[in-house]
Order: sequence, then structure tokens, then C-alpha cells
Amino acid sequence: MARTSRLPGFYKVTVQERRALVSDATGTEILEMERAFDAGGLDAETADKFVENVLGTYALPFGVALNVRVNAHDFVVPMVVEEPSVVAAASNAAKMVRAGGGFEAEVDAPLMISQIQLTEVDDAPKATAAILAHKAEILALADRAVPGLVAREGGARDVEVRTLGTADDRMIVVHVIVDCRDAMGANLVNSIAEAVADRLAALAEGKVGLRILSNLCDKRCVRVTCRVPASALATDDMDGDHVIDGIVNASRFAELDPYRAATHNKGIMNGVDAVVIATGNDWRAVEAGAHAFAARSGQYSPLAIWRRDGDTLVGRIELPLALGTVGGTLRVHPAARLALRLLGSPGAGTLATLAAAVGLASNLAAVRALATDGIQRGHMALHARSVAVAAGATKSMVERVATMIVEARDITLEAAKRALEVLSSRDGDGATVVDADE
Ligand code: MEV
Repeated sequence: MARTSRLPGFYKVTVQERRALVSDATGTEILEMERAFDAGGLDAETADKFVENVLGTYALPFGVALNVRVNAHDFVVPMVVEEPSVVAAASNAAKMVRAGGGFEAEVDAPLMISQIQLTEVDDAPKATAAILAHKAEILALADRAVPGLVAREGGARDVEVRTLGTADDRMIVVHVIVDCRDAMGANLVNSIAEAVADRLAALAEGKVGLRILSNLCDKRCVRVTCRVPASALATDDMDGDHVIDGIVNASRFAELDPYRAATHNKGIMNGVDAVVIATGNDWRAVEAGAHAFAARSGQYSPLAIWRRDGDTLVGRIELPLALGTVGGTLRVHPAARLALRLLGSPGAGTLATLAAAVGLASNLAAVRALATDGIQRGHMALHARSVAVAAGATKSMVERVATMIVEARDITLEAAKRALEVLSSRDGDGATVVDADE
């Protein structure tokens, strides 16, 4: 948790000054940030312990979303993402949500599903009855495979059996439901699947098939809502009431059309994944779960929807989120550990609410832009910074070159090089750019 996540002017100051501001807001030492970030957060020797055939590391920008308030607490939320404008857009939308009191969030217990496929099962109803009659024994067998988790008050909680296909498939699948506490849980759940499989096959009079977690962890969902007053949504050219109509229209489009829903959800995952990556979690697992959940009705659908309530816009997101705040990458990645400290060392449930809140903020920013000015205006302004850097601009010159090429409506490398020459040859005044904080 942060003392505050309102840090006006944050985008204008240097990286060093931002570290000082975040240190002040979160109580995290500047020295800790230097140690974690300089060298990209991970040295080659450590990287060599993560994966195979390592040649080096591959760094990405580590930023923070500001203005985020969830369940009446402020958070400076770490985001790792390469796409310009994602962090600024999330911060900007979080500020609008803040005007309505912030995000309200709730999260399920951290229940994961361990799947054990059984094949060559001739009598599925009999197999199901036999397995369910031995539930207590299966749960005990599962718990014996994960003593550390049981010591942390997690462990196997339930057994479910599903028949798949037709009688000709001769296939059933057993789900062992596991409370993973603050772990993401993949290793725990896979260990349990392997530990109980032989006994289940014997009970079912069948053969053991696959033994692995399900990434459709729909018992581990998070739900976040927000209420945004029309006044906070207005743009220079459109009043807030019309913006609400535009956003509700955008939501309906995504609800009715899977082609649009995919892009709508991509905008949500811009925010979710950035938090997931920053905190050392498995974003492929999160993506797989989110999209399977989005398709659960048979039609691929938006993970977040928007409605009008009087002169207020109401947004709601729901998705499964298997995130951990212990184990895995966190043991070894200094920047991921620091990311959690910036958040006040939350449990896995709170982290899931933050990732979902930033996802909802990212969606709000995208649909508001699409319903008003279009997405390119803001994107191009931020893209101009990258072009300025590519042209050789450094430090304050980046913003000045970016501003010049945006104003000239010529965001090209050539234009940036010309602007750099002009600015370098004179003692220019300061310049302003897109407000990345607000
Ligand atoms: C771009 O990264 C994300 C958007 O396409 C999302 C959307 O269309 O809602 C802008």
C-alpha cells in the first residue's frame, strides 16, 4: 500500500527524481530500487539459473501506474510493458475512477484445479461413484504430496468427476480442488495430480492419462467495479454525458461481436499482463485462463462491460487470475520482489484485485479514446518520444523533439532528426508533452 498514489507532475521529472517520489510514497528505499533495476533487474548469471541455453537478458521498461485506489487504499502499481501509452492511459483512467471513489474489488479463495484424465473407463457412472465414495482418502493422499502447503493452511479441498464425450470415448476427468494460499500453485497442483492418479485409475478401473493443472482456474476469479462521474470523463470536444453514451456503445459492440471482443480484451490485458509480468508471475497462464473464461458461454465475450447509471458510468470486470506472491520467479528476480514491496507486500488475492483494476482502467482509457478522439492522437504523441530517442535525442531533448514533431504532424525519423538539429543549435525554451501522469 502507498501513502498516496497521486503524484502530480511525475512524468515531467527525471528517473532519479521519480524513484525519490515513489520511495517517499511507498517507503521503499531508493538504494533498493537502484540494486533491483540497474542491470535490468537480472544479471546473466542469475538468468542462467532460470532457463536453458542463456546468452544474456532482455530488459523491458518498468513503470508505475499512479492514481490507483482499490478498496479505499492507494497503490503505486508496477507495470512492465513495451507499448507506449499503456502506463499513461491506465494512470489517466485510474484518476477518473478515483473521482468516483476508486475501484471496489472482491476475490475468490485461491482455489486451483488439478486435472487427472482417466481413459479406458467402461462404466463412467460406476467409476464416478467409486471415486466420490473415496473422497476423503484422495484428499489425504493429495495433502501428503504437498506438506509445505498444508503447513501454510492450504491443501486439497474437494474432488469432482466429469464425464467427457460419449460412452465411446471411455473418458472421465477428475478435478482435485486445491487451496494454494499465496502461491500461483502450478507446481503444487501438478504434484498432487501425479500423486493421486494411480489410486484414481484403480478406483475407476481405467488407465491414467494426463496429470496437470487447468489454466481455466474459474474458482479463482476476481471481480472489480468502478463508478465514474460524467464530469470526470469529458474531453475538450465532448461533454461527459456523451462520453458515457459512447463507452456504453463500445461495450455493447464487444458484447455482440467476438471480433471486437478480442480487441476489447487485448486492451484489458495490456494492463493486467503488465502487472503480472512486473510481479514475476506467469502471464501465459493468465492469458490462457482469461480467454478461456471469456469464451465460457460459447461466444467469445468481453471480460469487462460498461453501463450507465444516471449521470455515472459503471464498469465491471471479472476474470480468473492465478497469481502468486511467494515462490517461483519471486525467489530469484530482484525487480519482481521489489515490485511487490512497492505494493506493500500484498497477498496473492490483493495482487489479483490490483491487476484486474489496472486492466479495467486500461479498458476505460481505450474505449473512452475510441468513443471520442480516436486512439491515434494519444498514441502518436507518445510514439513521438520513441521516434525522438531513435533520432538521437537524450534527456530533456526527448520531450522537446517529440513535441515539435507532434505539432508539425510529421512523426517520422527524418522530422525528428531535423527537430533535433534545430533545437541543438539554439538555447531553446522548455516544452510540454502529453500528460503521462494525469
Ligand atoms: C491497443 O493496445 C489496445 C486497443 O486496441 C484496445 C481497444 O481497442 O479497446 C486500443
